[in-house]
Amino acid sequence: MKNFLPEQYKKNNLLKINHNYLREQFSDYQVIFKELEKVIIDGDFTLGEEVDKLEDEFSELHHTSNSIAVGSGTDAIMLSLKACGIEKGDEVITTPFTFFATIGAIVTAGGKPVFVDVDEDMNINPEKIEEKITKETKAIVPVHWTGRPCDMTKIDEIAERNGLSVVCDACHAINAKYKEKTAGELGDLACFSFHPLKNLNIWGDGGIITTNDENLANKIRLLRNHGLVDRNKCELFGYNSRLDTIQAVVARHMMNKIDHITQSRISNSNYLDKELRNVDEITIPKRDCSIKEVFHLYMITCEKRDLLQKYLISRDIDAKIHYPIPMHLQPAAKSLGYKLGDFPRTENFAKTIISLPVHEFIGKEELDKIIREVKTFYKKN
Ligand SMILES: Cc1ncc(COP(=O)(O)O)c(C=O)c1O
Repeated sequence: MKNFLPEQYKKNNLLKINHNYLREQFSDYQVIFKELEKVIIDGDFTLGEEVDKLEDEFSELHHTSNSIAVGSGTDAIMLSLKACGIEKGDEVITTPFTFFATIGAIVTAGGKPVFVDVDEDMNINPEKIEEKITKETKAIVPVHWTGRPCDMTKIDEIAERNGLSVVCDACHAINAKYKEKTAGELGDLACFSFHPLKNLNIWGDGGIITTNDENLANKIRLLRNHGLVDRNKCELFGYNSRLDTIQAVVARHMMNKIDHITQSRISNSNYLDKELRNVDEITIPKRDCSIKEVFHLYMITCEKRDLLQKYLISRDIDAKIHYPIPMHLQPAAKSLGYKLGDFPRTENFAKTIISLPVHEFIGKEELDKIIREVKTFYKKN
């Protein structure tokens, strides 16, 4: 098959407790069709009023003065780095325990990814950042992995002391909070994804950037739209990374549900935490009450991981691994010169993590089945 991606949206019909819930989530698609009618009749297909309204609503949710909707979460990171002035060869510090897109965006922006191992919370370890800073370092890209914000107090201090930009990969972290700040207020810029498998999802690719820095916001507005200030004047040569107006309609529809989506994920995760905490073979990440985690993924570590995953799948439960090979060991990272053993914590997580479904269509019955099956597995093994 030339295009493998559609596979990931297919529900495994053999499983009863799936990670994928798109059919249920968009069961009210007729309402969205109605909302799309106006856009289609008006021929309003790129940027436009619906994108403006979405940006305003997103800013309101995240208490920021600017939101700029773009073509994807990956583009959000790449454009943010470009707006911060990243140029060929500049070093960008980030985590090897992330999705490929974080690194792809750094490389596409011209940067050289420099990895720092994660801490127990699965996020970049701030204590290890400073030893990696050189005179080529220009930015830090902390990733709020699974929807759990990084230790931003320490990261901001380091960035300030060393004159670095902070571009947060908040693709998992819509509606999350760190102390009194929303995920949108963290760093110089925060980058979100609207990919169909994210907490706020649309009918294709899309992303959004938040910032309280007017200069950066203006630069990104230019960069996402060929650098155009009006139809005939180009201020700087840029990109085409506009959120489609049609997708803005879908995103606005989902914005009405985001609090419910977030709350369901949190309460499902709390329930699993409570019930799985007493299973000796399972380790639940430390929860910090000054942080609002939004559980894009419910990820724990466990013994006999591969066997547990196989067993859960055989019991109709879609247990997934995000991801078994860390970024520094990917074939694409070969030229960066890392090797096995460079980031022990990340490498250990890659061998022991497992993600269990906690989305808003999972109820108590499904959660109880997950808990029961995990316990049964460890009784037998
Ligand atoms: C941590 C992380 N960063 C960035 C991205 C990129 O987002 P998108 O797929 O919208 O480009 C993703 C998602 O897939 C992700 O999981």
